[in-house]
Amino acid sequence: MENNSGAKFSSNFGFIMAAVGSAVGLGNIWGFPYKMGSTGGFVFIVIYLILMVTVGFAVMLGEFAIGRSTGRAPVGAYSSLPKKWTFLGFMGVAAGILILSFYAVIGGWVMKYMVAFFQEMIGMGGFGDASSADYFVGFITSNVEPIFWVGLFMILTALIVMAGIDKGIERFSKFMMPALFVIILVIIVRSLTLEGAFKGVEFMFSPDFSVVEELGWFNIASTALAQMFFSLSLGMGAMITYGSYLDKKENLEKNAIIVPVLDTMVALLAGLAVMPAVFALGFEPTQGPGLMFIVLRDVFLGMPAGTIIGFVFFVLVFFAAITSAISLLEVAASYLIDSKKMERKKAVLIMLVVIFVLGNIPIALSQGLLSNIRIPCPIGKVVDYGSFQGMLTVDLLDFFDWMGEYVFMTLGSCLMSIYIGWIWGPENVIKEVESNGNTFKLKGYWTFCIKWLAPPITFILFLSASGILGLFGIA
Ligand code: TRP
Repeated sequence: MENNSGAKFSSNFGFIMAAVGSAVGLGNIWGFPYKMGSTGGFVFIVIYLILMVTVGFAVMLGEFAIGRSTGRAPVGAYSSLPKKWTFLGFMGVAAGILILSFYAVIGGWVMKYMVAFFQEMIGMGGFGDASSADYFVGFITSNVEPIFWVGLFMILTALIVMAGIDKGIERFSKFMMPALFVIILVIIVRSLTLEGAFKGVEFMFSPDFSVVEELGWFNIASTALAQMFFSLSLGMGAMITYGSYLDKKENLEKNAIIVPVLDTMVALLAGLAVMPAVFALGFEPTQGPGLMFIVLRDVFLGMPAGTIIGFVFFVLVFFAAITSAISLLEVAASYLIDSKKMERKKAVLIMLVVIFVLGNIPIALSQGLLSNIRIPCPIGKVVDYGSFQGMLTVDLLDFFDWMGEYVFMTLGSCLMSIYIGWIWGPENVIKEVESNGNTFKLKGYWTFCIKWLAPPITFILFLSASGILGLFGIA
């Protein structure tokens, strides 16, 4: 059975950069710092790392193996294995559509900030006189601009995906990812040399457990788990799709280690770029989702050469966001290409229109015109709401985020680990990893993680992250 018209990555470096490009995104640069900021810094980081080396590594390797052994996108992959869990593939496609619906809206906001900083830089005063918060709220609640920016963001994403695997995704990521690393390092140096910056470093790396009393282990751990899956693009088949394009001679184990390590490095580096500046300039780390847009604008504008640094920073966030959006759209489109035998350009176009009309436009308007559309939802998201709040009604942006990140991805990863560990079976993964004479050094450890750690941990934390446990008064 041939996959997605037989497309392949042309090198392992290209594959790693594409997978890292998928993983590194708004989740790392916008999400990680604010979630860490709201959950005590150090404690969140430690739990995050533990979950990554156990559950994250296990699921990542499993996804690569499913993808490469079947050579198919998620829906096709599950339906071509002996035990068909095709619904898991469909859950992945649905999750991709849900996530891209809100992800691209925030990507659009990033583009707007990039342009505003550029205007500041060349003396055109992009931000005007409004305060940081007024400017941000004024922009996201307006009726035309957010739609324009999300439209532009989606069109750029679609053009790259249309160009295909080696010409589009690989070539773009190979250049963008290393550039991103360099730019982040420059900003860290700037941030760390501000007076009082060290408090931010302490916040991240010195133990302080008082936050546990306030929020509880459950809330912090489930936030960390959802963040880890989201950040590594796990649980919905993005890595199955990329694995299906990988050559048989490459070592999957090595790749399943490199990708999470690089992703986590970027998240920690983003934390190091943001937190010291937040402390040095006297802001609160617990700002929530506005941290990047509201606090950082003042951080940049208040420091020497700030307009240039601000511009460069938002260019970087934009790169990161678009390489991730590419992978989300690729999952959705490759379902049509692989299972419906549709031509690539047409498949991408159809998904673009569907997501833009049904997802992006309503969500872009959800902060203003459509802010009175509220949907009941058991919010377990500690970072946005302080702690478990019971049933709340939320706007469309929060609802899609909750569905995509806190329900579909955590449940998807849980079911996937059960499937890999108990249904398809670790032996098949081992066979795939060891094919072509490759070694699998962590075989025993990986098998233990996928069978005994991942299913129970993800199941309990899914119940907590989705808010289900909270409804029963447990967490
Ligand atoms: N990992 C990306 C980020 O951190 C988001 C993302 C891209 C994603 N592709 C995905 C999340 C697939 C889940 C599934 O921003």
